[in-house]
Amino acid sequence: MNSDAATRAAPASAPADSCVMVIFGASGDLAKRKLIPALYNLARDKLLSQQFAVVGFATRDYTTETFRSHLDEAMEAHEAGSSGNALWAWLRQRIYYVSGSLQDPAAYQRLEAQIGEAAKAHGTSNNHFYYLAVAPQFIGEIVRELGNAGLTREENGQWRRVNIEKPFGRDLESARALNVEIRKTLDERQIYRIDHYLGKETVQNLMVFRFGNSIFEPIWNRSYIDHVQITASETLGVEQRGGYYETSGTLRDMVPNHLFQLVSLTAMEPPISFAADSVRDEQTKVLNAIQIPTPEEVLTRAVRGQYGEGTVDGQRLPAYRSEPNVAPNSTTDTFVALKLGLDNWRWADVPFYLRTGKRMAKRVTEIVIQFKRAPFMLFRKAGVESLTTNQLVIRIQPDEGISLRFGTKVPGPTMQQAPVEMDFSYADYFGAAPSTGYERLLYDCMIGDQTLFQRADMVEAGWSIIQPVLDVWHALAPRSFPNYAAGSWGPKKSDDLLARDGHEWRRNGT
Ligand code: BG6
Repeated sequence: MNSDAATRAAPASAPADSCVMVIFGASGDLAKRKLIPALYNLARDKLLSQQFAVVGFATRDYTTETFRSHLDEAMEAHEAGSSGNALWAWLRQRIYYVSGSLQDPAAYQRLEAQIGEAAKAHGTSNNHFYYLAVAPQFIGEIVRELGNAGLTREENGQWRRVNIEKPFGRDLESARALNVEIRKTLDERQIYRIDHYLGKETVQNLMVFRFGNSIFEPIWNRSYIDHVQITASETLGVEQRGGYYETSGTLRDMVPNHLFQLVSLTAMEPPISFAADSVRDEQTKVLNAIQIPTPEEVLTRAVRGQYGEGTVDGQRLPAYRSEPNVAPNSTTDTFVALKLGLDNWRWADVPFYLRTGKRMAKRVTEIVIQFKRAPFMLFRKAGVESLTTNQLVIRIQPDEGISLRFGTKVPGPTMQQAPVEMDFSYADYFGAAPSTGYERLLYDCMIGDQTLFQRADMVEAGWSIIQPVLDVWHALAPRSFPNYAAGSWGPKKSDDLLARDGHEWRRNGT
């Protein structure tokens, strides 16, 4: 396929509002690996205001100068040579640091003073946004302290916004409680709940693909689609995150947030506009249409797994229970497969199968739209035994693209049929632009566009669907963990889940 530069979407061109970004947990990994490099990329694309500053806040004992040096290293890892270039110098001198405890009201006063100084030095308006890159248990408290310090008050046309990273709560009850807590201080329009999946180009493209083309939407329904598969498999294990993972597990970590974003964007009705609430209303309707499983259904429609030892490329990989900070008899799930049904006219009786896990055979996130078989076997008498079914695969990562499978006649004197694929690859068309996946999310927060952020009701709807699964799994300890080898496609029961319906997971070249 040829690249057609003329049809490429132009990047948004207006710089965002002038503001101060305050990063809570600034000494952590997220700031260094994603947030600061994302700001750098935005500055390179002229999407940051010239009147901009960053204030980092954390307990670690940095000064502004040592914090800047710590970021030099991170920038070098992001883009070789950047730590000495003019663009980084421009951003670097706008970055400040305040050290203090998240629980100490005096620290918030120091923070306020530093924000004021940075705003004055760089001529920023009184707009602030607070990025909470901290453990979830601190969120309620930080928002309360920000409120007490008057830092969330919007007056004279200035805005104050708060970004909250996932996980948002750890079940339905805690998510509801957190929403109630933060809304004592903030209005919903000030809250930007982040799901980093929505920062991915290919996820954003789902809406363009479905609603910017006329040929897919008419067949995007139960009359033509047999079932949908969504896979998000990772080859990595839990690495150094055993402590967090033991309190979470894959179901909480991936499903009510990332995977449900993919479900809702795949299944939603066309919104009436791209205004934030039009899009989010339609996404929420999908989540509300998902049948909440009964305890009995959990037993037949939800599969859990935990990886044991395995060998990949001759290398021995440890079992989950041998990972750092993991209990030797842990019952934490590292794999989940679910079968969901949607109660609406478009999707009734079309199963949505979801699977996600750590230490699987291949890293791949993709959505498979499996179309129905052609209604009858026109070529049977000519010796064609089975017809190819059409399959549309939307590859979210790592090999971003879209492919469509269809059947063709094999050249030759006899009637033989074979499946072939039309394939679009993002990299071939658009090249690979360096991106952290956070650029668009930060930019949208600075221009006040909440479309790609989760609303309170969406988060709660996500938790309500998986709550029965959490409950049943909590009540019945798994009996056969570990039940899949590191480097495999998960437990056998995951294959059985589809086999019972006469289906199988798409094989991914392994
Ligand atoms: C995070 C989870 O939200 O998403 C991680 O906490 C997971 O456990 C990660 O590895 C996956 O994100 P991505 O962008 O690599 O698919």
